[in-house]
Amino acid sequence: SHRSTKILRAPIICVLGHVDAGKTTILDNLRQTHVQDNEAGGITQQIGATNVPLETIYKRTEMCRKMITRKDDFIIPGLLIIDTPGHEIFKNLRSLGSSFCDLAILVVDIMHGLAPQTIESIELLTKRQIPFIIALNKIDLLYDWKSNNKENIELVLQEQSQITKNHFEKRYNDIICQFAQQNLNVALYYKNPDPNEFYSIVPTSARSGDGMGSLIALIIEKCQTTLTKRLTYTDELQATVMEVKSNYGYGTTIDIVLINGHLSVGDKIIIAGQEGPIVTQIRRLLIPESNQELRVTNQYQTHEKVKGACGIRILATDLEKSMVGLPLFVARQTDEIDYFKNEIETILKTILNSMQLKEKGVYVQASTLGSLEGFLQLLKTSHIPYAGINIGPVYRKDVIRASTQLEKDVQFATILAFDVKIEKDAQEYANTIGVKIFRHDEIYRLCDMFISYQEQIK
Ligand code: GTP
Ligand code: NA
Ligand code: MG
Repeated sequence: SHRSTKILRAPIICVLGHVDAGKTTILDNLRQTHVQDNEAGGITQQIGATNVPLETIYKRTEMCRKMITRKDDFIIPGLLIIDTPGHEIFKNLRSLGSSFCDLAILVVDIMHGLAPQTIESIELLTKRQIPFIIALNKIDLLYDWKSNNKENIELVLQEQSQITKNHFEKRYNDIICQFAQQNLNVALYYKNPDPNEFYSIVPTSARSGDGMGSLIALIIEKCQTTLTKRLTYTDELQATVMEVKSNYGYGTTIDIVLINGHLSVGDKIIIAGQEGPIVTQIRRLLIPESNQELRVTNQYQTHEKVKGACGIRILATDLEKSMVGLPLFVARQTDEIDYFKNEIETILKTILNSMQLKEKGVYVQASTLGSLEGFLQLLKTSHIPYAGINIGPVYRKDVIRASTQLEKDVQFATILAFDVKIEKDAQEYANTIGVKIFRHDEIYRLCDMFISYQEQIK
């Protein structure tokens, strides 16, 4: 039997690819959710984490019973799936997602083939030696495609008309060549001569669900064979803070991805904050309902203890100034508190030093470290200098800082607030002293708002 006596944790599966390849829609199809429909501008601007249970996987792979025969064949407890943005400026979030995943789904639009962020994603994955499966998505756009999501995709392809098959072959062969140019061998998963040499391709349509079962079945097969060693649970804590939110009734909470190890109510945690390390105690551990994405859902179950891998919301005091994209530590002994505070301080210094503030420039605020980095990247490519940065809502003190630009260059006495609230007295004060505040939750729009403002006051 292939059954291991060791306990496996849930594999972390990261979805990567070029903008609009269909990453979020693929996950919506798997989860039967509508996250993509509600994204500002149809753009993913954050990392999303979803705990997918075995029942969902079993149900969604019905047409692949050759690969997943019985429910007892599972040796993993479920999947933790991570969605990432495809826009160029979010390389930091793709890098973060791929830094802790066990396996990736590389989504390629069959009509467009390999695009810049596909290639960037391939580089991230091969550099870290993360195995991946290619979803060749949007096959429903092939000429005269006959949709069928009740059969495995090998059969569905066989049953297409000759003209559809020819169209598929043509696109498929082009894409094989594009992969070869990246020094990668790829093959349809059911014709793969050697999975150690060739990356497997699964044709999919996230829109109709064609091939989705085959994709999931292949992921499970891979996790339960070649990846078992990597997936063995260890109690060494590895966790990353993904998001800070203020929730009605709960106060400020943090969303984290627990990769390995466990967390319990009462644990002393140490995380990064805007004004240095934060030390606090876990009051409650919330796990989103199955198949609900951590960043959007508000339905949870409470737990006393949680083991990795899992997406979790943590309730505790003093979380208001938490920073995102950085590790969470637990001090199991009192003397560990100072040790981890030091660790966090070192990490913070390195990050802020790397952000290259200018003497003259705008003041930038974003909801998370990840989106701040993405936004700064966008400003750089748009040749807009920035002199100050902050994470969280816009307060009066931020307006004061931005106002120092009034005497340097009036156009830069501006706060660009991405996806954050503006406190009422901050806005009033800004109006009084002549600081502009632009706010938007779509990153490109916000940048455009400033560019038109610049033109207008020239
Ligand atoms: P970013 O997160 O912004 O990088 O995009 P994404 O890769 O998550 O793509 P998204 O899921 O936002 O899909 C982009 C567009 O493609 C949406 O309009 C989807 O409805 C559409 N789309 C996704 N998958 C398919 C598919 O299989 N077939 C067709 N026809 N359209 C699809
Ligand atoms: Na999109
Ligand atoms: Mg997306």
